[in-house]
Amino acid sequence: MAKLWEGRTDGRIDSVADDFNASIRFDKRLIKQDIQGSIAHATMLGATGIIAKDEAEVICNGLADILQDVESGSLSIDESAEDVHTFVEATLTARVGDVGKKLHTARSRNDQVALDMKLYVREEIDAIIVKLKSLESLLCDLSDAHKATIVSGYTHLQRAQPITFGHQLMAYAMMFLRDLDRLADCKRRLNVSPIGACALAGTTYPTDRNFEAVALAFDDVALNSIDAVSDRDYLVELLSDLSLIMVHLSRFAEEVILWSSWEFGYVKLSDAYTTGSSIMPQKKNPDMAELTRGKTGRVFGDLMAMLTVLKGLPLAYNKDMQEDKESTFDAIDTVMACLDVFTPMLATMEVNKDSMLNAAKLGFINATDVADYLTKKGVPFRDAYHTVGQIVAKCVQEKKTLEALTLAEYQTFNPAFEQDIYDAIDLVTCVNKRNSLGGTSVQSVEAQIAYVKSKI
Ligand code: ARG
Repeated sequence: MAKLWEGRTDGRIDSVADDFNASIRFDKRLIKQDIQGSIAHATMLGATGIIAKDEAEVICNGLADILQDVESGSLSIDESAEDVHTFVEATLTARVGDVGKKLHTARSRNDQVALDMKLYVREEIDAIIVKLKSLESLLCDLSDAHKATIVSGYTHLQRAQPITFGHQLMAYAMMFLRDLDRLADCKRRLNVSPIGACALAGTTYPTDRNFEAVALAFDDVALNSIDAVSDRDYLVELLSDLSLIMVHLSRFAEEVILWSSWEFGYVKLSDAYTTGSSIMPQKKNPDMAELTRGKTGRVFGDLMAMLTVLKGLPLAYNKDMQEDKESTFDAIDTVMACLDVFTPMLATMEVNKDSMLNAAKLGFINATDVADYLTKKGVPFRDAYHTVGQIVAKCVQEKKTLEALTLAEYQTFNPAFEQDIYDAIDLVTCVNKRNSLGGTSVQSVEAQIAYVKSKI
């Protein structure tokens, strides 16, 4: 396909260099946005009289037809074109004749590509938000089903205090809620139109940038043309937001992997979301969770790549910026793919309440409650803490649980112990007494669910 820039050079670029320079292989996914942007641009050219209204109409109809044909599959994208912008313009001109050559009046590929990326990212953010919201609503349902399911909470991966499984799941719901907020914020800040900045300096034509911005549903117009074509901040923000989503999914994945091990046995993953081993017949591997954990690195890499491309770039457009696309697309695709498998993996996972409870019964996770019991009877907390340490040591030595000690044994440590100690260390009591704001009690988990539901 002929080069757009033939004239200054003879256009006979070396074929390896041509391939190196071309972006059509990956930017062809911007075709819809490219055509939407071009339709808004041509309409503006017609409305302002920069080209005749009927010419604008021919261009817009031609563009709409190209999009329809690409979407229906009757037109395939010619990968010998340098990029998607070249392909669309060349196809338009081939179809509607010389009037197609007027489309690029008062525009450059620099503001065009800046626009296409913003339109694309804006849509993808919405799609990721939909997926995150469905994960959130699943987490609310699962938490509601497990708001009274007792499990050990961990610190240092050591059994720490009794919590409900619903409470643990809502912790992830809170993380994803912040992710949703960050994505909405990213979208709000990026929604400023670059089109009309042209190559870098604006234009001598009487364009109407506000007209284009309104047509493309932007909230505002970028007020410095140099910045408009060079700004990729929103991609760094997006990739950072996506990196955090992956951090959250990866932490969650790690827990699912632990929970599904024989050692924990807290959950059983559905066969639909596990794989087997080629040699060990007993194996059922949590590959979906592992891959989610593993793919996190790619997204971090995409963020690093983007930051590095931008660092030290002089104003305004430089071809380095073409490198913004593959990292962005890869990160978006990766997050979407992980969400597509993670949510149904959780939805089909079986929760083994008995294993959770049995593990919670061992490990002295109600020891804090013994100390709190003494404290409420007037013993200073630090002394109570020390006494309970000795009680636990005795239990460890005698292979007993705190529940198995007799009242007489308790009283040898402190006469303040009475019969109600057994109620105080009952795991259900321990959980429900933790009714402080944001605590693990059933009531608190219900409040958290209601909060998350109100936000999604
Ligand atoms: N393919 C290019 C990119 O993605 C389009 C912009 C080209 N602009 C230029 N001045 N060569 O960045």
